[in-house]
Parts: sequence; C-alpha cells; structure tokens
Amino acid sequence: MSQQRALLIGNSDGIGLAFTEALLRENWSVTGLSRSTVPEGEVAQGSGDYVHITCDVLDATYRGQLERACETRGPFDVVVHLVGVGYGLKDDNFAREAETFRTNLISMVELVEVVFPTFLAAGRGHLIGLSSIADDLLMADSPSYGASKSGYSSYLKALGLAYRARGIAVTNVRFGFVDTKMAKGKIRPLMISTAKAVLVLKRCIAGRPAQSTYPKAAGGAVRVLRWAQNLRIWFA
Ligand SMILES: NC(=O)c1ccc[n+]([C@@H]2O[C@H](COP(=O)([O-])OP(=O)(O)OC[C@H]3O[C@@H](n4cnc5c(N)ncnc54)[C@H](OP(=O)(O)O)[C@@H]3O)[C@@H](O)[C@H]2O)c1
Repeated sequence: MSQQRALLIGNSDGIGLAFTEALLRENWSVTGLSRSTVPEGEVAQGSGDYVHITCDVLDATYRGQLERACETRGPFDVVVHLVGVGYGLKDDNFAREAETFRTNLISMVELVEVVFPTFLAAGRGHLIGLSSIADDLLMADSPSYGASKSGYSSYLKALGLAYRARGIAVTNVRFGFVDTKMAKGKIRPLMISTAKAVLVLKRCIAGRPAQSTYPKAAGGAVRVLRWAQNLRIWFA
C-alpha cells in the first residue's frame, strides 16, 4: 500500500502535536502548519516523513501556503483542521472577538476553498475538523468560542451531506475537555488525555463518520445544559 498523506493545520502543540507523532509512527507522510515549529525530536521518532510550514492562519500568506502544500505534498488522503483559540470575554475587553472567529472558523472555510477542488480532482479525500461540545452551548464567559464552534459544526455537517455521494468524507469531531493548554479552567469534568483524543481521531480516519462526540456523556450533559439555557431565554 502506498504511503498515506496527511495535512494537519495547527499541529505544534496539544492534540495536533500528539496526532502528528502518532501518524509519523505509522509511516504517514505528514505536512504540518502552525505559527511555531514542531519540536525536532518529536518528528524524528517516527518512520514517516515530515515537512513543517511556519504560518499564522490569520496571515495573508495562509492561502498561498495551503496551495503550495497541495501542489508539492499532496494529494492528501486526510486533511485535519486543529487550529483553535479561546480567549474568553474578560473585563469588557472585546479586542479578540473577531480574531477568534477568524482563527477558529474562517481558517477552516479557507482550507475548504483550497483543498476541496483537489479532493474533487482526485475523486476522494477526507476532511476532519475539531469542533467542540461547546457548539451546543451559549457560552456567556466566551461567546465567540461557542459561536465559532457552532458555525463550524453546522458548516462541516452540511459540507459532509453535500459531498459524501462524490466520495469525499467530512467528519466533525466534538471533544469535551482534552488535557492541553487550552483546557486551562479549574473545572474539567470527564477530561481525556491527548493519547485518547488521538485514538478517537484514528477511529475517525478508519470509519469516516459524519460526526464523533467524545466522551458521549459530556455531549449528553451539554444537551441538558442547553435545554436549561433555552428555558432561561424563553422566560427572560
Ligand atoms: N483542549 C480541549 O479541551 C478541547 C476541547 C474541545 C475541542 N478542542 C479543539 O481542539 C483543537 C485543538 O485544541 P488543543 O487543545 O490541542 O489546543 P492547543 O494545545 O492550544 O493547540 C492549538 C494549536 O493551534 C495552533 N494555532 C493557534 N492559533 C494559530 C494561528 N493563528 N495560526 C496557526 N496555528 C495556530 C497552535 O500552534 P501555534 O501557537 O504554534 O500557532 C497549536 O498547534 C481546537 O480547535 C480546540 O478548539 C479542544
């Protein structure tokens, strides 16, 4: 079987770094993109080959970097969007609200604009996006994070419906808390390790589901919370 190729957006830390290491151990050809590089020792451990693109997804060069990656390192079997930020809305400071949408959501839309034509030309491809169970919540302490993930999930699920019949799979992944620097709050129920998150992503590559929520109990808890939030809105 020929070597499989992955493009990972946002892979210098957290889930993305753990997933990079896992794919390289399994002999994948991996291209990663993030503002910082991946520690050299980490990518040297696997038998696969690795190329890093140092780029900010908010930068005007992002699209060109994606196009070049597709030309020189593609066609990709799997493209995974892992970029995410969550600044919270503290002290009435609105300075990072638009940045959160651009980083979490618009960078995915730009990725689709570049990668989908290559998937269509190849007649195959799998896009995986890391949303969150927060897509179902009204997050008063971080409205832009919750809303960006809500739009993200809606976009990916619709895209998946539109293209599944043409051989292209889209998987919307909804984690609860994962043990990375992003999950920095004091209360982190049902938190999972990055190793467990990697297993979930590998299962997504194998099964190509439209959506994967993990842990399921966290997804259920969020649905109950959202129902309570709806009651508060109706009676406000
Ligand atoms: N951790 C959780 O509890 C949790 C739960 C549910 C969903 N998620 C989602 O899972 C994804 C990964 O989260 P994580 O916990 O692994 O986060 P993380 O440890 O903070 O890693 C985020 C990655 O995104 C990259 N990134 C951030 N801003 C970027 C930018 N402007 N341009 C390019 N790359 C950028 C970072 O690299 P550089 O800083 O080097 O650019 C880093 O590699 C996110 O989408 C997050 O919303 C996480």
